[in-house]
Formats: sequence, structure tokens, C-alpha cells
Amino acid sequence: MANPKSRIDALVEELNDASYRYYSLSQPTLSDAEYDRRFRELESLEAAHPDLVRPDSPTQRVGAAPAQGFATVRHEIPMLSLNNAMNAEEIVEFDEQVRRFLTKEYGGDSEVEYSLEHKFDGVAVSLSFDNGLFAQALTRGDGYAGEDITQNARTIRSVPLKLRSTKPPRHLEVRGEVLFLKSDFERFNKERESAGEEVFANPRNAASGTLRQLDSRITAQRKLSFFAYSVGAHEGFELPATHVETIEALSRLGFQKSPFIKIARGVNELVRAYQEAEKTRDALPFEVDGMVIKVNSYRLQEALGFRQRSPRWAIAAKFAPVEENTTLLDIIVQVGRTGAITPVAVLEPVKVGGVVVSRATLHNEDEIARKDLRIGDRVVVRRQGDVIPAVVSYVPAARTGKERKFIFPTTCPECSAALVKPEGEAVYRCPNPQCPAKIAQRILHFASRNGVDIEGLGDKLVELFLEHGLLSDLASIYELQLEQLVALPRMGELSSKNLLAAIEASKEVPLNKFIYGLGIRHVGERTALILARFSTTIEKFQRLSEPQLLEIPEVGEETARAIAAYLQDAQERRMLERLLSKGLRILPVEEVKEDRFAGKTFVLTGALATLSRKEAEDRITSLGGKTSSSVSKKTDYVVVGADPGSKYDKARELGLAILNEEEFKKLVTI
Ligand code: IVH
Repeated sequence: MANPKSRIDALVEELNDASYRYYSLSQPTLSDAEYDRRFRELESLEAAHPDLVRPDSPTQRVGAAPAQGFATVRHEIPMLSLNNAMNAEEIVEFDEQVRRFLTKEYGGDSEVEYSLEHKFDGVAVSLSFDNGLFAQALTRGDGYAGEDITQNARTIRSVPLKLRSTKPPRHLEVRGEVLFLKSDFERFNKERESAGEEVFANPRNAASGTLRQLDSRITAQRKLSFFAYSVGAHEGFELPATHVETIEALSRLGFQKSPFIKIARGVNELVRAYQEAEKTRDALPFEVDGMVIKVNSYRLQEALGFRQRSPRWAIAAKFAPVEENTTLLDIIVQVGRTGAITPVAVLEPVKVGGVVVSRATLHNEDEIARKDLRIGDRVVVRRQGDVIPAVVSYVPAARTGKERKFIFPTTCPECSAALVKPEGEAVYRCPNPQCPAKIAQRILHFASRNGVDIEGLGDKLVELFLEHGLLSDLASIYELQLEQLVALPRMGELSSKNLLAAIEASKEVPLNKFIYGLGIRHVGERTALILARFSTTIEKFQRLSEPQLLEIPEVGEETARAIAAYLQDAQERRMLERLLSKGLRILPVEEVKEDRFAGKTFVLTGALATLSRKEAEDRITSLGGKTSSSVSKKTDYVVVGADPGSKYDKARELGLAILNEEEFKKLVTI
């Protein structure tokens, strides 16, 4: 084993450097997961060798020094950080420690009541109010002193400039997190992209960069949000007895709070709630990297007190990280069904958000140039929900000079046709209609689950069939014979029969899925559904003209042109006729069912301002949820409008997730 002293030294240097770049320069070099791993290694080495703990070790302080340009102000009460739990077992350990400690103090071994809320992935900020008026905003900085960002915070709409209270406290410090909502972030990055500016890697970096703008007019143009999560120093403020009640009090004073704050009694309920929350994280309007678990009662919090750098009464229970660093081994190009040539990153396999990632799309030539990616770079890879993994940026500090620039090919890698790049488009295309790669992709698209859904017809088989000349276009799928299949290498009789049965079954298909399966440019699932609703039968669809298409709401000019061109192309028409002569039964439109809220129960109470009760209920049921008229422990969300009744009180008593109208609308938008 390496000498512990030199390993500790190396880790301290590396982590301090990473913090400086992350906090002071807003330019992260280590992914969160890598940082956490090294931090934990350092913690355990220091625990084994207490004499080797350096005063400048990151375990001895909370963050990094503030950037220059803002006044540094001491916090009245330090802003500490939280210990992490990486999984359910570590939450169980945390609960054991809490109970062990409380048993010593109080005797008894009863279940502890915990609060559970999302750990916002933004920037920690402290806001001070004097006699109810917003006075000062500080970043966390190193935990003891932060940067004065008052002017910037003032521009954030969810920071109240005046507390909603007839008798405001003389002094109140509210702590919370500044962040970009996912939707605001996407809009903001799109604007930057179209203005030719560099895009931000993730909402947290964007929030941090925006708060550090020396010109607060720039901050004002970007839509940041503030969510409150605790009270710091206070005078003339009656602190409630529990954390959850404090959040409610803050909400009443005008602060935005997490719409998902829960109470869990005992560790089993706690772990269940944590696991449930991880499953639904992608549906949230903001990014989170875990849950914050706190002992709900302040009396017990006080009894538990603090360790060196973190409270004993709280823990950050992390979710699997969505960002990781890895090496960009190569860049290859793929030919899509429309002939579009897409560069793809070949990555050293890395686990991101619980899934191993070894490929990521790079979209087009311009994107590689904009991100200045080179083969051999260390890169940040990001995965969100079921979105395709993306290469966010390279790690400048890791560049050695040995990296290679990628040269975009001029000919199709599959059929060697010279590539074309139409005016005003970002992508190169293979113009050859017989390009085998295009045919393969069209067949795979047609056979996919959202298309006619031929189970078992995947890329390996399509490639095999193409190689042996059994497939040439979509119609040829329905001409496959058992004798042909069993004669192929690796094709048994049973698997051949199964495949033919799946092909037969795919002949009955809803119109929208059939249209989607044709793979017309710009026609995704949604457009296919609109086209199918509008035309109702395949024959009418085939006869649509460009002017008719333009009349369909939601079909834009470019899409109308692409559809008309497809429908008028002689070769496509012949293929479509052949396809339809194979005995297909095109059924009426299948309305898409979304089941984001399957198994979830909503209760609505009070009057909503912009939605009728019926509209709100329809929205819930269309997403697979249920509505109920009474609140119970089984209720998942309570949506509260104006003048709510006793259901609201009951929901608060039970610690259920309470949503106001705006929060509800955010939750149920597509
Ligand atoms: S409570 C004693 N609640 O997580 C610290 N923190 O390491 C009490 N954070 O930078 C913090 N969401 O800014 C708390 N709902 C939440 C939070 C939260 C995000 C951040 C906090 C701090 C870090 C804790």
C-alpha cells in the first residue's frame, strides 16, 4: 500500500485545487462522484492516522475561498455542510447513531421523527431581513464568511423584498438555495447557443456563474429561483418547534419552499420515502442530487448538536450521480435513417446514474468544434433520466497536448458516397438512397416499439438479413420466409418462427404508429399522432398536399415540406403501396397514454385561479394518476388553491407533499 502520508498529501492538494476551480472559478474539474470518492478516502485515511490531518485538509473546512470582486462578510452563524449517506444502508447507520446518541441523553429507544426534503443542486445562499425588509444576501463561501451578492439576489423574483407579515421580526436570516429551474435553464442555454455564446454545462454551474456576475443587470435577465430551507440568526421571530413547521412559516412569510417535504416516522418509513423520491427525481422541475434528512424536532436537534463540520441531526442522502468523468477514446460517425451523419463519442465505459455509458451522441460537426473536444480528452459525461447521454465538456486541467482533433469524413463510411451539407443545415448527409446503413436504420425505426413494434427484430438481425440480401426496404420485412431464415447462420427454427409470428402480429397497427414508423424527416411521435388524428385513414394521409398540411395546427413549414416531399416521391409511393398490399390492418389512432403518475393519488382543495377542477382532474388522470376527495396517509400530493378547507390542515398535519397552483402546473406539464 502507498505511504499514507503521501496519499493524504496528494488527496488534499487535488481536492483543494478542485474546490478552488469549482467554487471560485465556476469551472469544475472533478465530477461530484469523483470528488466524493476522494473526499471519503481522505476522511478514512485521516481517521486511521489522526496525526497526519493537515490544517488545510478539505475535511477541516466547509468550502473554498470567495472569488475576488465582492465584499467578504462574516456569517452570524456559520453555514455548515452535511455529511453524506450514499445509500439506504448508510441511512440506517445514520438513524442508529441518532438513536444511540439520544438514548444516552434521554434514555429510551423510540422511533425518531424525521423530515425529508429534496437536496437542491444549486448554490447555497443566506438572506437577511431587517424589520421585514430584504437587507443582504451572502453566498456560503468557506462557511464562515461569504460574498456579498445582495444586488444580484435582489433580482431574483422568488426572493421577497418584504416579508409577508403584519408584525415582521426585527431580524431574520433565511437560508436556502438559488437555482435554475430545468425549463428556465434550457431556454437560457438555447438563447446563448443561438447568440453564438458558450453554453453552461448544467443548471448549477449556470446558477453559480449568474450569481457571481458583477453586473447585476445581467443577473436580472436570467431567471433564477430561490428555495428556502432553514432559518439562521433571528431576533423577534418565534421559531416553531419543528423543522417542517419552520418551512411552513417561511412559506407563509413569502418564500418558495420545496413542494415535496415529508415527515417519516422511524427508519423504515424514512428509507422507503428516500427510495420513492429517487424514482421520481426526473419529474421534478429542478435538479436535485439527493434528499436532506433532518431530525424534525429542534429540541432533539439541540440535544444531538454538531460534530466538527456538520450537524449530527441531519444527513444528505445522495442519489446516484448523473455526471461522471471519463476518457474520450474515439469519435466515430453513424449514418441515420435520413442519411444524417452523426458523430458519436466512444467513451471508456463509466457508470452514470446507475447505468454504464460507453457511447454518447455529439450531434454534429459544429458541436464538436464549439466544445473543442479532442480524441484522448478527459470529458464530463452527463445522463438525465432516460435522455441520451451527452458529453458536456472536456476537462482543461487534464489536457496533455497529446489529444487529437477529429477530422470530419467527406464520404459515407458505409457506402462511400460523397457527403452533402445543404445550405443552412448543421449536418452532413449521405445522398445515396441505396445506402445499406440508411436502409438498416429505416427498418429498425419502423420495427421499433413506437413504430409497428416487431419484437426481436433488432440491429444484429437486420444486419444479418441485409448481408444475405433478404431485406431491401420496409415492405420486404413482410416477404421473409421461414426457409430463408433457418438457412442463415445462428438462426434456429424456433427463433425464426417467433420472429415471423412477431412480424405477423405487427400487421395490426394504429395509424399514428404506422406513420411514425415510416421515418419521415421531422415526424416524431407527437407529429405522427397529430397527422393521424387529422387524416383518420392511411388513404387520406397518402393524399395530403403541402397546403393541407400547413393548415394543421402544430405542423410547421419545414415539417409540411418534408411530409409532402415524402408523399410525392415516386419511389416512396411505390414502396408504400407494396407495404400496404401485404395485408396490413391500419387501426384508428391510439391515444398515447402517459403513466408518469401511475399509482399516485392527488387531492384537490380550494379554488384554482387558472384551471377548472375538471381540467386539473383530467390532467392528473391523463398522466395515469388518480384523484380522491379525502386526504389520508396514502395521498401523494395535495393541490391547494384559494380558501382551502380542512383538507389542507390535515395534509399539513400528515406532512404530505403540498403543491400550490403554479407548482402543480409545473409538475403536470409535458
Ligand atoms: S440544510 C447544516 N436543506 O446542501 C446544514 N441543505 O452540505 C443544513 N442543500 O450547501 C443544510 N438543499 O446548501 C439543507 N433542503 C436542503 C438543502 C440543502 C440543498 C445544500 C446546502 C449545503 C449542502 C449541505
